[in-house]
Amino acid sequence: MDKKEDAIDGESELNMSTKKPAVFSGVAPSGSLHIGNYIGAIRHWVEFQDKEDNIFCVVDLHAITTPQDPRKLKEKIYEVAALYLACGINPDKSKIFVQSHNPDHAQLAWILNCVTPIGWMRRMTQFKDKSQKQKEIVSMGLFDYPVLMAADILLYQTNEVPVGEDQKQHVEITRDIARRFNSRFGEAFTIPKAVIDTTGARIMSLQNPLAKMSKSDPNPDGSIFLLDDADAVQHKIRIAVTDSGKEVKASENKPALKNLLTIYSVLGNESVEALEERYQGVGYREFKADLAEVVIEFLRPIQKKYREIWESRGYLDDVLRRGLEMVRPVSHETLARVRELVGLG
Ligand code: AMP
Ligand code: TRP
Repeated sequence: MDKKEDAIDGESELNMSTKKPAVFSGVAPSGSLHIGNYIGAIRHWVEFQDKEDNIFCVVDLHAITTPQDPRKLKEKIYEVAALYLACGINPDKSKIFVQSHNPDHAQLAWILNCVTPIGWMRRMTQFKDKSQKQKEIVSMGLFDYPVLMAADILLYQTNEVPVGEDQKQHVEITRDIARRFNSRFGEAFTIPKAVIDTTGARIMSLQNPLAKMSKSDPNPDGSIFLLDDADAVQHKIRIAVTDSGKEVKASENKPALKNLLTIYSVLGNESVEALEERYQGVGYREFKADLAEVVIEFLRPIQKKYREIWESRGYLDDVLRRGLEMVRPVSHETLARVRELVGLG
């Protein structure tokens, strides 16, 4: 990975690095995981598993910041966890758990709420976007989403947060909140940094190359889900919008082709330049047919592994329980220090 790091520090006295860097990231089980989640986030988690001390969380408290069907939510939580494993997260190397199973997240979020100025929160662009799209009421939880995310990250003295481009602002506010707390009450938190790749940090919708591929897009044709079958993949790629002209080129004025080429390049493990050369003079149709094959082949082993994991639910429960047992002492220690510094009980 060509790492683009958004910040220079990411370390503090609490976490000086003879140790492996502490990594925390998560996905909300608010819908089905798509190739944007994989390309922007999960593949990097897998890539650095050996070199880092990783925690990958299923952030269910974030999911309920927008309305969820309670019967489906439970299933989605386990689906996301199973997909982490199916994508290559190894529970012997990384800790996986469900956010709401550890009550320290909600408690730290409350304390951080009390040091976070409302003016900082009003600048959050994801809140502005999501609240405009929200048909029902806009909840306080949605507004508070970045503070809960700050709590997730800061509880574990995290150094690095591997995410897609859309989460950059949330990691920045996390840094601001941590600095403010540390300077007002005393050193409690490591200052984390976002780790965002230069390629694929923002995979776009197949139906609108100017909007990001998103779990909450009401049009399922815009996203390729990790559990889509071959017919669905072929169909979605066949009807994906393309740019005018015929050239298979990843230029700025060809955002649709640029997006398709990025997907092809990452999932097919071939450079964009090599692909542009190979498809020179070849129409979109053939390019798209090949891309569909690449995506189907990429998804095949993930789906096979997912089905195996899904059938042994006891195993998944065990992985999540073990993950929780390993992370709780760390979050406990941070929270105890925070409570002490703030003067709580
Ligand atoms: P979310 O789907 O919002 O829960 O995002 C989970 C992770 O996937 C975060 O690290 C996001 O930045 C990343 N992500 C979500 N959508 C995309 C996308 N379209 N392209 C790249 N990364 C994405
Ligand atoms: N907000 C993130 C997203 O939608 C999910 C998330 C919640 C997260 N807590 C986190 C990501 C902590 C990284 C670290 O993508």
